[in-house]
Amino acid sequence: MTSENITIQKAIPEDAQGIGEVYYKTWLATYPNEEYGVTKEDIDFIFKDIKNSDGSKYISLPDNTVYFTAKENGHVVGVCKLVKHDDINELKSIYVLPEQQGKGVGKMFWSEALKFFDSTKDTVVKAVVYNKNAIEFYKKLGFRETGKIFYDETFRMQSGVIPPEIEMIIPATSTVV
Ligand SMILES: CC(C)(COP(=O)(O)OP(=O)(O)OC[C@H]1O[C@@H](n2cnc3c(N)ncnc32)[C@H](O)[C@@H]1OP(=O)(O)O)[C@@H](O)C(=O)NCCC(=O)NCCS
Repeated sequence: MTSENITIQKAIPEDAQGIGEVYYKTWLATYPNEEYGVTKEDIDFIFKDIKNSDGSKYISLPDNTVYFTAKENGHVVGVCKLVKHDDINELKSIYVLPEQQGKGVGKMFWSEALKFFDSTKDTVVKAVVYNKNAIEFYKKLGFRETGKIFYDETFRMQSGVIPPEIEMIIPATSTVV
């Protein structure tokens, strides 16, 4: 299994539906969790308007933000959102369709992130505490846990639950003056 037929490019308006589907399918495969009270219905609720998405939120972005897609034969199989803040780089999300995981697509996105980010600043990412696969993946990229836990109000589920997230960091590359 390889990623040789997969290309990474900036999202375009025509990708909107495909991006929405990647989010929905990967969230369904990743986030329902009995212990933390996150259900399939919670995920369905978040994406109930997916078919009405005009995609503008993936395309009309401020200068400090970029969306990349991974495509195979024209179909979106992965998405990645990156934000350059004044003080830090933030890896907002990487989602790869379940059947395409483990083929190197996440690493392809990371290569783009390294080109986009400012290496003189810290890079942070948040991962849901029980999303062990993502945490292991980020460790592989060089991230380390900071010990901080976040409860993001925008991540509140229909049921009222907010899945806790850990923060992970790669410190800025020190520059020799
Ligand atoms: C986590 C995710 C983005 C990784 O992307 P991917 O395309 O599957 O990962 P890759 O194939 O590029 O793997 C890159 C490296 O990480 C390693 N890796 C990936 N998942 C891993 C895991 N669960 N445990 C250990 N190592 C892992 C791979 O072995 C590979 O190592 P290598 O460079 O030595 O070959 C993807 O699996 C995914 O979308 N998961 C579900 C959604 C999700 O949790 N997103 C993150 C939200 S915070």
